[in-house]
Amino acid sequence: MIKIATSILSLTPSERITSIKKLNKTTTDYIHIDVMDNKFVPNYQLPVEEVNMLSKYATKPFDIHLMVEDPESFINALMFNNIDAITIHLEIKKSIHKLIKLIKSHGYKVGLAIKPKTKLSLLKEYINDIDKIIVMSVEPGYGGQTFIETTPNRINEIKSLRNDITIEVDGGINNTTIKNLKNNTDIAVVGTYITNNENYQKAINNLKK
Ligand code: DX5
Ligand code: ZN
Repeated sequence: MIKIATSILSLTPSERITSIKKLNKTTTDYIHIDVMDNKFVPNYQLPVEEVNMLSKYATKPFDIHLMVEDPESFINALMFNNIDAITIHLEIKKSIHKLIKLIKSHGYKVGLAIKPKTKLSLLKEYINDIDKIIVMSVEPGYGGQTFIETTPNRINEIKSLRNDITIEVDGGINNTTIKNLKNNTDIAVVGTYITNNENYQKAINNLKK
């Protein structure tokens, strides 16, 4: 069954603690943390101090998605253990090989995220050194955007590079768009469809159905 990583990006900082406490009581598999530096994407969200603080309230593991040009200092400043994976973007101008090693040295799983218009062949160089790929199904930067319908074709192409790679899809997923992903996706990142719903569990049930 597809796993759900709930993104709390679209909430205000004061709503995030309440939301995490609510998510602890649901069947979400992960809490997806979006980090943005206002350089790699035109938005600034979740400084590392806030991520460290939020971790104290969570019983679900964190799935951390770094949309930042320079992930190293952020990774080294994380002060808690309940982290399943850290994902960096393929498009940044830093040594991806070095960053993969750094994330592994902390004992976390490693993900590589790819934007909708980036060539999939660029994944080849790293695909055997990582645990998962986050296939962006919107341009990264904001929650609440529309799912790009060609995403399932991109997943099939990635699978032809490495069939057993974990596939996570991020952006614009709701109870309708998730139907396109059930055959080939391991983890769906879902933000506003869950967090705009009064009843989180009901929204998660609709997604896992
Ligand atoms: C977009 C983020 C997503 C986003 C998902 O840049 O990476 O994780 O918060 O939110 P929805 O589900 O609302 O598109
Ligand atoms: Zn994300």
